[in-house]
Amino acid sequence: MSSPKIRSLREILAEVENKKIALGHFNISDLVAFKAIKDGAKALNVPVMVGVSEGEREFVGIHAVAALVKSAREEGIEIFLNADHTHSLEKAEEAARAGFDEVLFDGSKLPMEENLRLTKQAVEMIRKINPEIVIEGEIGYIGSSSEILKEKPHDLALSTPGEALRFVQQTGIDVLAPAVGNMHGLLESMVHGNEHKRLDIPRIAEISNAAGVPLTLHGGSGTADEDFRAAIQAGIRIIHVNTELRLAWRKGLEESLEKSMYEVAPYKILPGAYEAVRKVVEERLKLFNGQGN
Ligand code: 13P
Repeated sequence: MSSPKIRSLREILAEVENKKIALGHFNISDLVAFKAIKDGAKALNVPVMVGVSEGEREFVGIHAVAALVKSAREEGIEIFLNADHTHSLEKAEEAARAGFDEVLFDGSKLPMEENLRLTKQAVEMIRKINPEIVIEGEIGYIGSSSEILKEKPHDLALSTPGEALRFVQQTGIDVLAPAVGNMHGLLESMVHGNEHKRLDIPRIAEISNAAGVPLTLHGGSGTADEDFRAAIQAGIRIIHVNTELRLAWRKGLEESLEKSMYEVAPYKILPGAYEAVRKVVEERLKLFNGQGN
C-alpha cells in the first residue's frame, strides 16, 4: 500500500500564509506529549509541528524522535519536526542529518553581528545537507526557559523592523523569530489564567512587512487569545507553546497518581497526563487555525 500524500513544510507555510492562520508548534520531552500532539492534530485534521530543544533532544534521543515523526507521517498525519533553539553549528548539523524538517538556529543571546555571522554559516551548511530544510533565525531576546518564573528576566530586548530586514537579507533564513512582547515561560501570576502575556501587535505588522518572510512567535504560553488572533492577522505563521503543555502534563500526572497509590502500571497512570496535554493542544490548534472562534 502506498503512503498517503504528505505536503512539505514549505507547502504548509505557503498555505497558512494564504489562509492567514498559524501552524501550531509544541515541544515534547516524552511519548505522552508526542501522542497527545499527534492525536490532537489528527482529530482536528490540521498540520502540526513538534519541537525538541537541545535538552529535549538529548533526553528523547534525536533519532528516536525523528523515527516517531516519520512513522506518524506514514499514517497520513502532516506532522513536522523542528530542532528548536539550536545554539551551535554542530547541533544544527546533527539535526539536519537526522532528517529534521526545520532547524531554528538561535543566536539571539549573542551580540547582533555574531548572531548574523553564525546564522549565515548555519544556513549555508544546512542548505548543503538538504535544501528542503526550513531554517529559522531569531533576534531580540525573550528569555530562555519554558518554566514557571518568579519574575520577568531583566534583559528582554524587543526587535525592530530595521533589524529584521537586515537579518533576513544577510543570513538568507526562511523564517524569522522576533521579540514582540513575547517571553518564554509563565510567570507564577499567570499559572491560573488570570493574567496574560500581551503582544506588541503594531510591531509585529511592521516587522512582518519589513522582513517579507513568515514570522514565528515563541513563548506562546499564557498569551491572551485576542492577542494570538491579532498577531496572526499581523503576520505570525508559526506559534510555539511549551510551558502550558508541561504544566498540563504535571497536573494530569499528579491527579492520576492521587487516584491510587497502588497503581504502578505506567499505561494506566499516564493517560491522565496524555488527556491533559491533548486538551491544551486541541484548544490552541483550534485558535491558531481559526476553527470556532
Ligand atoms: P513557552 O514555554 O513560553 O510556551 O515557549 C515555548 C517556545 O517558544 C519554545 O520554542
